[in-house]
Amino acid sequence: MCGIIGYIGNKQAYPILIDGLKRLEYRGYDSSGVAILNENKKTSIYKSKGKVSELEKYTSDKDVCGKIGMGHTRWATHGEPNDINAHPHQSANGYFTLIHNGIIENYSNLKKRLENRDYVFKSETDTEILANLIEYIYIKGKVSAEMAVRLALTKVVGAYALVISCKNEPEQLIVAKNSSPLIIGIGQEEYFIASDASPIVQYTQSVIYLNDKDIAIIKRDEFSYKTIKNDILSPKIEKLNLGIGAVEKQGYDHFMLKEIFEQPSSILDTFRGRIAADFSKIYLGGLLDVMPKLIKTKRIIIIACGTSWHAGLVGEYLLEEFTRIPVEVEYASEFRYRNPIIYKDDIVIAISQSGETADTLSAIKLAKDKGATVLGICNVVGSSIARETDAGVYTHAGPEIGVASTKAFTAQVTILTMMSAMIGKEKNIITEDKYKKLILELISIPDKIKKILLLNERFKKIAAMYKDANNFLYLGRGYFFPVALEGALKLKEISYIHAEGYPAAEMKHGPIALIDKKMPVVVIATKDKSYEKIVSNIQEVKARKGIVIAIVTEGDKTIKEIADHVLEIPKAEASLVSLLAVIPLQLLSYHIAVMRGCNIDQPRNLAKSVTVE
Ligand code: F6R
Repeated sequence: MCGIIGYIGNKQAYPILIDGLKRLEYRGYDSSGVAILNENKKTSIYKSKGKVSELEKYTSDKDVCGKIGMGHTRWATHGEPNDINAHPHQSANGYFTLIHNGIIENYSNLKKRLENRDYVFKSETDTEILANLIEYIYIKGKVSAEMAVRLALTKVVGAYALVISCKNEPEQLIVAKNSSPLIIGIGQEEYFIASDASPIVQYTQSVIYLNDKDIAIIKRDEFSYKTIKNDILSPKIEKLNLGIGAVEKQGYDHFMLKEIFEQPSSILDTFRGRIAADFSKIYLGGLLDVMPKLIKTKRIIIIACGTSWHAGLVGEYLLEEFTRIPVEVEYASEFRYRNPIIYKDDIVIAISQSGETADTLSAIKLAKDKGATVLGICNVVGSSIARETDAGVYTHAGPEIGVASTKAFTAQVTILTMMSAMIGKEKNIITEDKYKKLILELISIPDKIKKILLLNERFKKIAAMYKDANNFLYLGRGYFFPVALEGALKLKEISYIHAEGYPAAEMKHGPIALIDKKMPVVVIATKDKSYEKIVSNIQEVKARKGIVIAIVTEGDKTIKEIADHVLEIPKAEASLVSLLAVIPLQLLSYHIAVMRGCNIDQPRNLAKSVTVE
């Protein structure tokens, strides 16, 4: 997690660094810091516990002039959040200054070796160890800064995105990456370095996505790119195609709210260029090469974490219904550590908004090592998972900045629906008629979401009634069980109310004991084949005096009579209703969290992209 930013050019670095840190703050927000090289080639480092605004206050009377610098916003892994553990870190003799996103796994060994050579550490971080390792090699080996960095990195096990400066070679920044994201933006005699495109997009659209174990040595007028083993490379310059609006709130109070309201258009972006103009065909270009394998495979394994895992569960229902291929959905973290059985003809689908989640990335590597074909469903273009997978599809939902995932979920489910329909059609499991009907239903989803969003004030009123509850239960069956899990996760993470998602029929096997007159129970109870059963589940809750908030199909009269509140959503094909039912749950959580005074876009203890295992 952690966000990193660097600048070298002819402008003042400080405003660029601070603005960049604010845009990257969603990645970590327990402390931050900047290092700036001034005109006299002296590096000033300022660090502060808390949010970037604290750093701004702290630096308000400091000298922050200089045209080369780096900044970091932290999500603590090694050592508590405080000024000392905040980045940038400097080596003991002050030769090297660096910022780091990732984890040095063999830090303890490296630390012991350095301690034996009389190095003393001020912080509890793995980063300070790396700074000193580079310095040790630099002094002992009498090598250049670049070479010291390269040699040090060959001794490091773990993940890193680094920006490094050396006091003896002040007019350059050295950047390197392994398993943590890093982008270099190219301007006019200036370069921007960042964890993602959000701080770069306002300056340039030309970027280089660094590959693992690559290093770039950047001067204002010179750029060299190589592997850490010193093989010279020519960098691939790519276009971002991202407007500044995509990374701003555009009048919304929070990014999360903006992203919830963006869903009609983000789903259209997910469709773009992938559905024939006459709605007769779905075309996911990223799957074409692997389609023969997809048709033949006997098993699909979906790996993901958090909200993406919930999308994966919806994917299981979709793929099994439309393709009749057995699907298993695994938490990437569990999959990775339990020596899973993986066959060479298995297809593994990794789902990730950020494309950087460490658990998912490691699970992909394991599946590839065992010979499976791995496909990715990622939102962030050029991300590590997108690069690591054999093939895949981007969700194209646009940058998701609110820590709680919303539009990424609906985009992932959209892709999984398209994928299922495409494979099902190729395998002749679904008829031409059913295929076309599904496409028509799918393209009507954005307008149906717009209708639900018009009910925002009503969701707000219900939120006001239950904002002080201590617990919530979310129930759903079939396609709506993952939606219940997602509703509960959204509430937990942003409002800090304990919530559980459960398959509705399982309630009577335990959770029913929790129900009393204080327990709000959100039930997804739209009309489908288990409607009668879910009505019985609602009766069971009411019989125990629980409060029922039911998500129902427009015009439903039966549930209106029993539930305390009904929230109507438009009628849709059962397999697609999860795309609609999740919207009221997102808004309910959002309003409850706002009313409880929580930090919506940066909930406590969380970070947007979880790059540690
Ligand atoms: C929940 C949330 C997390 C992520 C999870 C996976 O709102 O954002 O649960 O879904 O950390 O992240 P990605 O999808 O980036 O792999």
